[in-house]
Amino acid sequence: MKRQWWHDKVAYQIYPKSFYDSNGDGIGDIPGIIEKLDYLKDLGVDIIWLSPVYRSPLADQGYDISDYYEIDPRFGTMEDMDRLLREAKKRDLYIVMDLVVNHCSDEHEWFKKACADPEGEYGQYFYLRKLEKAQAPVPGSGLETEYSVCSPDGYVLPCNWRSYFGGPVWEKLPGHEDWFYLHVFHRKQPDLNWENPKVREEIYTMINWWLDKGLAGFRIDAIINIKKALPFRSYAPDRADGLCTIGRMLQEASGVGEFLGEMRDRTFKPHQAFTVGEVFNEKAEELPAFIGDNGYFSSMFDFSETVWGSSPAGWHKNKGITPDDYRQCLFDTQKKVADIGFISNIIENHDEPRGVSRYIPPQDMQSMDEEMRLTAKKALAAVYFFVKGLPWIYQGQEIGMENYPLQSIDEVDDIASLDAWKVMRRQGVSEQDALRAIERNGRDNARTPFQWSAAHAAGFTTGRPWLQVNPNFTKINLEQQVKDPASLFRFYRDLIALRKNPQYSETLLYGSFEPYLADESCILSYLRRSSGQTILVLSNYGKETRTLPLPAKAKKILLDNCPGRDLPVTDRKITLSGYRTVVMELSGGRFF
Ligand code: GLC
Repeated sequence: MKRQWWHDKVAYQIYPKSFYDSNGDGIGDIPGIIEKLDYLKDLGVDIIWLSPVYRSPLADQGYDISDYYEIDPRFGTMEDMDRLLREAKKRDLYIVMDLVVNHCSDEHEWFKKACADPEGEYGQYFYLRKLEKAQAPVPGSGLETEYSVCSPDGYVLPCNWRSYFGGPVWEKLPGHEDWFYLHVFHRKQPDLNWENPKVREEIYTMINWWLDKGLAGFRIDAIINIKKALPFRSYAPDRADGLCTIGRMLQEASGVGEFLGEMRDRTFKPHQAFTVGEVFNEKAEELPAFIGDNGYFSSMFDFSETVWGSSPAGWHKNKGITPDDYRQCLFDTQKKVADIGFISNIIENHDEPRGVSRYIPPQDMQSMDEEMRLTAKKALAAVYFFVKGLPWIYQGQEIGMENYPLQSIDEVDDIASLDAWKVMRRQGVSEQDALRAIERNGRDNARTPFQWSAAHAAGFTTGRPWLQVNPNFTKINLEQQVKDPASLFRFYRDLIALRKNPQYSETLLYGSFEPYLADESCILSYLRRSSGQTILVLSNYGKETRTLPLPAKAKKILLDNCPGRDLPVTDRKITLSGYRTVVMELSGGRFF
């Protein structure tokens, strides 16, 4: 693996709408981000990914872009964006934007032109089809295809794929009776036709325009979806709606690499940009092509634990993840990625519930006292932080923000949650159970405003926040944690400092990864080893005290999530109270 400028960095995701509101309108904005750059610098992060701030109707919170060259006025102006780039540069911070090019908004001018003339140039920018109404199937007419589905007014759709946000992927083209367009996400997100070289040119021009402006790179949204299995066809339905998941089609689509390689060569590579792909459904053998030395992307996210236990039947059927399952996911990824490239490690993002509410068993979270809950949050942080790859922190993770306690479906903004609600209710799941499932899985959990302080609206805005603040803000907020030497925020600062400490960084960045005590339930442990140095991360990821063997004599404790407390350790053994986690340098000799 070739060494890259970004390997020793720590990355941070900002969800601008909920980060910091500088003008009191209840919506976070770019000037708000600029005000907080010193905070991020103090935390120790280097790369900052902004979820979309482009002009957008915000049907999917900015992942529906109506102008790639403009900033949405709710977030600020292009001058604000330029200022952000300058201010970031002054502080050696790198700004990465979201690149959303599987689809645009139905309010983008390309789509408006396509609607005006579906057979014209812009019609080719999208997947448009002129359809016919179903007739009574005549044997041999070709209309009796196995799984065909119709629009509500009887047009036979080209395929039965279910959009990620519910319903068929085909929607009537505004202003037309018999023309339809494809959207694998929301109906306000028409898919761009990547098969059309003109579309690809438009996209590359736009990417280069932003990189020339001084952007460090992109997080690349939903990118696997750009390659469709064509011609359109239906697959066996997987729910009573007669539709099938997009994932089924993606298994069959081949050739995405040609688009991705072209995009890399025309844009990212000449700029030495940093890119991180949102890649689901990749095939294991494709990893070198994705993140190897000449990969399509610099890195990609590991979603193995986020998708773990998810059920196609609906959110109420999703399984909770145990510490041992979580460990398995981490270790499997490490094994799979090995030295191929640098994976991006997360415990949450804007599409996921809060990490501490998911990866610490909820029954533990409920039954532990404040102190042990904090210890557990630190344990999770330390365990994911030192596996090989680039660690990402999602806003609020560093202060241990938790899932939002939902009272009613009326509080929900997220379109994916609203669809999940419909799916569950249609299946007869009770309101209470459906609500609890949304509380566990919903995307709003990560989107509630950042809890800066115990002041009005958690110090996020002087106005009325666009999404309700988590009521625990009086207890969980940054202002209080900055003052408290034992806080999670301070612990995150220590984690970052340790990863960057030149005495250990070679091992923590490039050292081999070796599972340790992988058969012990609720022990999350591994070794990082380089020539001449071994670092052990050892976490008792459960409530009970455990005495564990050490693989070699401890040389130095580098980090302890219960500092100041007695740590019973002998040459060969260590005793860890519930969720206690240590990172230590080991001496050269091994016991076994
Ligand atoms: C990605 C984004 C998500 C968005 C979707 C459609 O998964 O992370 O927030 O809804 O793509 O753009």
